[in-house]
Amino acid sequence: MAGQLFSIHKKPGSVLLAAAICFSLCSPVLCHGGRTSSLPRYVGSSACKPCHKKEYLSFTRYAKKSTSYRSIERLKKGLSTQDLNKCYGCHTTGYGKPGGFTSIEDTPELKNAGCEVCHGPGSRHVITGDPDRIKKKPTRKDCESCHTPERIRAFRYTPLIHGGGH
Ligand code: HEC
Ligand code: HEC
Ligand code: HEC
Ligand code: HEC
Repeated sequence: MAGQLFSIHKKPGSVLLAAAICFSLCSPVLCHGGRTSSLPRYVGSSACKPCHKKEYLSFTRYAKKSTSYRSIERLKKGLSTQDLNKCYGCHTTGYGKPGGFTSIEDTPELKNAGCEVCHGPGSRHVITGDPDRIKKKPTRKDCESCHTPERIRAFRYTPLIHGGGH
């Protein structure tokens, strides 16, 4: 199926076609809850696996991001909803953004900080396989929303631009 979808994107008008396909398939991964939108949505790391096995396996094996929800759970007891919402901003994927994490019940596939915290929301790229529809080269700026200056003091960052991913 993935190959089929991929071959479609080369033709003009593919955006509409892709949207139509997304709508008709409407798997929980591609467009959870059946909501579609003109903005790209977050789909979760496992949606990347079929086409990027190497990065996926490396990420899930070595990157702490891939289990970052667990870190919240470890400290969850005693935290207010407000505190928890703050955790979500860095420890999940796309919290507070269109098509991002909302809750563990509604968006379990986004509970960890996944590929898309660096590469941006992937719904369009996942459907089309078009490399122009995903962020190729995350920069340090992309890290700074979570690896804030206070954290960076203890975080050796420049040599790690390729760290924390795959
Ligand atoms: C249907 C297959 C498919 C899926 C699913 C998919 N990709 Fe890709 N991706 C491709 C193809 C094809 C390319 C271009 C060839 C290459 O670089 O391997 C690509 C390229 C990329 C690139 C590099 C772009 C470049 O030009 O160097 C990144 C980054 C990327 N994908 C990230 C992701 C992420 C993150 C996900 C999950 C949200 C994902 N991909 C899901 C097929 C896919
Ligand atoms: C959405 C927030 C977010 C963004 C954006 C982000 N990170 Fe992270 N990163 C985290 C969290 C959360 C952890 C800790 C996960 C845990 O242990 O629970 C982490 C952990 C790490 C680690 C620790 C080592 C490891 O094994 O994972 C490195 C290195 C890292 N990130 C590098 C980066 C780099 C480089 C970028 C930018 C290209 C980046 N991160 C972008 C949230 C983020
Ligand atoms: C501004 C982004 C940000 C926020 C907000 C945030 N974290 Fe983190 N957290 C990180 C990053 C990045 C790391 C990786 C270590 C570092 O760079 O400081 C981390 C590491 C951790 C770790 C250590 C994991 C390990 O490897 O031992 C725990 C536990 C944790 N965070 C829990 C929480 C909880 C609970 C909250 C909410 C109260 C929270 N974090 C809020 C970004 C954040
Ligand atoms: C911590 C940030 C971060 C995360 C998380 C992350 N990547 Fe990347 N990714 C990068 C960086 C940085 C590059 C290298 C860009 C460059 O060429 O300088 C990259 C490059 C890529 C490429 C291009 C080929 C390559 O390996 O250079 C693909 C494909 C890719 N990532 C897929 C994924 C997939 C799939 C996931 C999740 C399983 C993921 N990435 C998670 C930061 C990240």
